[in-house]
Amino acid sequence: MPGIRGPSDYSREPPRHPCLQINAKEPFNAEPPRSALVSSYATPVDLFYKRNHGPIPVVDDIERYCVDFCGLSETPKKLYMRDIRMLPKYNVTATLQCAGNRRTAMSKTRKVRGVGWDVSAIGNAVWGGAKLADVLELIGIPKLTSSTQSGGKHVEFVSIDKCKEENGGPYKASIPLSQATNPVADVLLAYEMNGEPLNRDHGYPLRVIVPGVIGARSVKWLDSINIIAEECQGFFMQKDYKMFPPSVDWDNINWSTRKPQMDFPVQSAICSLEDVQSIKPGKVTISGYAVSGGGRGIERVDVSIDGGKTWVEAFRSQKTGIPYIADHISSDKWAWVLFEVTVDIPHSTEIVAKAVDSAANVQPEKVQDIWNLRGILNTSWHQVHVRVGHSNM
Ligand code: MTE
Repeated sequence: MPGIRGPSDYSREPPRHPCLQINAKEPFNAEPPRSALVSSYATPVDLFYKRNHGPIPVVDDIERYCVDFCGLSETPKKLYMRDIRMLPKYNVTATLQCAGNRRTAMSKTRKVRGVGWDVSAIGNAVWGGAKLADVLELIGIPKLTSSTQSGGKHVEFVSIDKCKEENGGPYKASIPLSQATNPVADVLLAYEMNGEPLNRDHGYPLRVIVPGVIGARSVKWLDSINIIAEECQGFFMQKDYKMFPPSVDWDNINWSTRKPQMDFPVQSAICSLEDVQSIKPGKVTISGYAVSGGGRGIERVDVSIDGGKTWVEAFRSQKTGIPYIADHISSDKWAWVLFEVTVDIPHSTEIVAKAVDSAANVQPEKVQDIWNLRGILNTSWHQVHVRVGHSNM
């Protein structure tokens, strides 16, 4: 593709914030400290987690950069940045969460394969760009289409990066055409993050944002978009990011038995405390995030200071001055809520958080029940141990 290229080594990586905890250096995978997540509703770009499968692409000439659209007619259609910018611009506040978030904790029960993550492979941002539904309309696919005349039912996003899982080929993923052409689904071709042009780590110049769906489907550094009959056959759709039952291991796995994971389930985590934390006795403010996939709001966040025997309800918020009501028009349906509660902790104990979404889905208690060999979607109750000391703390 003219204007952009995917390097095969790591000599052109962008600069990164020194506070990031690096979970893998090449490809670069890093998350911020927990405290950064609860410091602001929109996560600052430099502290937003970075999840890559290859070296970061380089844009040589933004004027020549374009996206090819294939699968509609013999000749691909091309859209340049200026064509995409001419469409109405939408700002969608959406939480992006890697399916591997909290994988390290899952591995403690039984080893799983994949990059380890604490609770910060998640972030909330205001994504600016054109709606994919408008872009597809521009190239000839009407809104609310689930199948094209030539049998296209899925929209495949292909990047330019070189991933070893794809034998040096690009990262790719797909979503159903019905979702892509539905303006209400808010799928974006985003060129901005928190009001600034996307930076290289997050997909400059153009990426997909699929709100409410695991981050793996929000393809960065778009090269082409294909209208295809079957879902994308790439590694990350067919041989990864699928949820298997605890009985499946690497000896008996049959990848084709499961669908690629799309929506993520209800999730929450405490961010004001580490997994083991020493504190003084007395009042402690516990804060964290809660989010659910598919546009479902957060109905409740329960916090326990006795390991899950009794619970108090935490205060939830998105924007200051506007009360948060799950699924209300004033709430950001694709975004997390931050929660907070102040409790009295007289002695050492286990603090637990669990969230309930607007469909009354609740996080599972034990990680063992949802253990899966790839370590995805650890949404079990988040528990931290506080050691209460009485002197010199
Ligand atoms: N897109 C490309 N081209 N290459 C990638 O490695 N990683 C995916 C997705 N899109 C990836 C990609 C995964 S697994 C996640 S969780 C999100 O991007 C992470 O986006 P971020 O790095 O902007 O936080």
